[in-house]
Amino acid sequence: MSILFQEENKLFTIHTKNSTYQMKIDPYGFLLHLYYGKKVAGNMDFLLFYSDRGFSGNPYEAGKDKTYSLDTLPQEYPTLGTGDFRNPALVVRNEDGSFACNLRYVSHSIRAGKYGLKGLPAVYASEDEAETLEIYMKDPVSGLEVDLLYGVLPELDIITRAARIHHDGDQKLTLEKVCSACLDFLTGDFDLITFHGRHAMERNYQRTPVEHTSQVIGSRRGMSSHQYNPMMILAGKDTTEEYGSCYAMSYVYSGGFKGEVEKDQTDGTRMLLGLMDDMFSYPLEKGKAFYAPEVIMTYSESGITELSHNLHKCIKKHICRGKYRDVNRPVLLNSWEGCYFDFNGEDIYQLAVQAKDLGIDLLVMDDGWFGKRDEDISGLGDWYVNEKKLGESLPHLVKRITDLGIKFGIWFEPECINEDSDLYREHPDWALQIPGRDPVRARYQLVLDFSRKEVVDYIFDSVCDVLDQADISYVKWDFNRSITDAFSHDTSDQGKVLYDYILGLYDFLERLLARYPDLLLEGCSGGGGRFDAGMLYYSPQIWCSDNTDAIDRLRIQYGTSFGYPIPTMGSHVSAVPNHQTGRITPLKTRGVVAMSGTFGYELNPAYMTDQEKEDVRAQIEDYKKVRHLIQYGLYYRLTNPFLQETAAWMFVSEDRSEALLNVVQQQVHGASLCTYVRLRGLKKDALYQEEVSGKIYPANALMEVGYPLPTELGSYQTFQIHFKEYY
Ligand code: GLA
Repeated sequence: MSILFQEENKLFTIHTKNSTYQMKIDPYGFLLHLYYGKKVAGNMDFLLFYSDRGFSGNPYEAGKDKTYSLDTLPQEYPTLGTGDFRNPALVVRNEDGSFACNLRYVSHSIRAGKYGLKGLPAVYASEDEAETLEIYMKDPVSGLEVDLLYGVLPELDIITRAARIHHDGDQKLTLEKVCSACLDFLTGDFDLITFHGRHAMERNYQRTPVEHTSQVIGSRRGMSSHQYNPMMILAGKDTTEEYGSCYAMSYVYSGGFKGEVEKDQTDGTRMLLGLMDDMFSYPLEKGKAFYAPEVIMTYSESGITELSHNLHKCIKKHICRGKYRDVNRPVLLNSWEGCYFDFNGEDIYQLAVQAKDLGIDLLVMDDGWFGKRDEDISGLGDWYVNEKKLGESLPHLVKRITDLGIKFGIWFEPECINEDSDLYREHPDWALQIPGRDPVRARYQLVLDFSRKEVVDYIFDSVCDVLDQADISYVKWDFNRSITDAFSHDTSDQGKVLYDYILGLYDFLERLLARYPDLLLEGCSGGGGRFDAGMLYYSPQIWCSDNTDAIDRLRIQYGTSFGYPIPTMGSHVSAVPNHQTGRITPLKTRGVVAMSGTFGYELNPAYMTDQEKEDVRAQIEDYKKVRHLIQYGLYYRLTNPFLQETAAWMFVSEDRSEALLNVVQQQVHGASLCTYVRLRGLKKDALYQEEVSGKIYPANALMEVGYPLPTELGSYQTFQIHFKEYY
């Protein structure tokens, strides 16, 4: 049993393989958080410290006891209006306009298996792999009920949190802020690690000290965003990749979010993750539950690499679903950077011919095949094939391509609409816009109101009409703007729209996968604008960034790797000079970087020399020899490309008998010193043989001193070494 309840002490204890989490119901029925960290046994309520602190009030029942204050005690799910003045997890507006919400323990249940969340993505697991704890809390005055949900995957050191919020009373209750997870730490000196960015430069690593202020990351964009990723790490000051305590929270949600870390008046730290509360005001209908999306939490006592491994394992096997979870992903050629909007059916067919010749498995026809779409100003919403542009029907084109022996994939942007489209002319009210105001345009497009079922149904049918025409194995699902003008004609409560929009999106995706179970979905939002565990529930890979420059990708993929497994990151070799940066890098370097993701190409092979084509064929063959390590192995960051000129990372098989070292040199400098890259994850006392040279190395020396990099490695050069255990 991973979840224990001790009646006499009113203690909930959750044990995973290496961690313990403990809570206590206090004499007044409040749920206090006691501990999360290294595995321990026993009762941790000795950690609570009661003192009379000025301006920290006391619950009425505490009577003359001035030392009991929710303002200073660690809370499990803090609400506004109870005398806890730190950042709250839940804010509720009552019918009388007041904001008090005083949740008390009612009962609980413990069972095998993992809870699910209606309409939302969530970690899934079998009854042998997981347990669920539900703690039922209630505000006795308003009747609001909050069911705190905990899912425990002990082998992976994962604890998930979510909440079901409902009421049966006659009061009108409105949710004004809803977080899913709160962690209160009584002590500790932490750093906060977050991942910020912008379009085409996502998930830059940032580590800042936690001080007496509230640090907030988040998105008001209706999407998880390029600007901040909904994954954050709290690490001890001395914690490194290999040593020390750290905690992660990752949001299984693709809409706006808010992550907060605050050091309080008693030097305690609170970490929260939940829905963005701006433009959120959700009336709770009597008898109807509101689900707070899931947060995945994990703890590592031995550094950040292990924290990433926990998240990787959880996402690979318990978030990603479908056929492609466990099979080799196809190597693809995408038409975007090779053709942009300028193609016809024959051009796409010729790309496929070239792809086949190079050893590529799948050809993807990107934007430009539908409606009136020769540039980005028109066409979105009109999901019918432009046969005039293609010069042939879709079934005809797809048959020609699949007859070559490769698969076919296609691009959609189902959530958006151009004003210059038949759909907009017919249903202008289907686009999110506020009556009487001009909407904010982005890339000349508006967003469809996916909070409305009829809109979702219509687009679903039009997408299916296309997919039913031909043998289509793959869909790239794009979303190319942030959401503004969140106004729906379907409701008078506009504070619901952004959350309901995401429910509409998930409903669409769920139905799509139910209807086409073998379809490989690749998520995309101007590259990695919606790279989150929510989308990964539907699409096991996401186009990591619109930036295909190999050197920028070192940073983008490094940042992404903290929270997300390598095979979730779509990554392609493109032409040089690179279209985003103008940089020229060797084909080999572009290959090594792109294959540390779901590997593909995004260029027109017709412009390559015969030698380059030969090199690409060899690159794909080499990739196929090591992809079992990349897709299924453990990933180790060896350097930080934000701080070091040498970017190095490696993959190690689960049984540690094989490893793949990857190195890319960023800038070189005069009279450079020899760089030793310390390997990780090998079997300590074993010997490893380098595949090509046959040289043998002791693992301990590779891990303690390092592998000396050739000094002649110039700027942007790379090398990759495949090691096998030598017996
Ligand atoms: C976005 C995507 C690109 C491409 C274009 C097409 O920018 O990220 O990969 O599909 O849209 O318009």
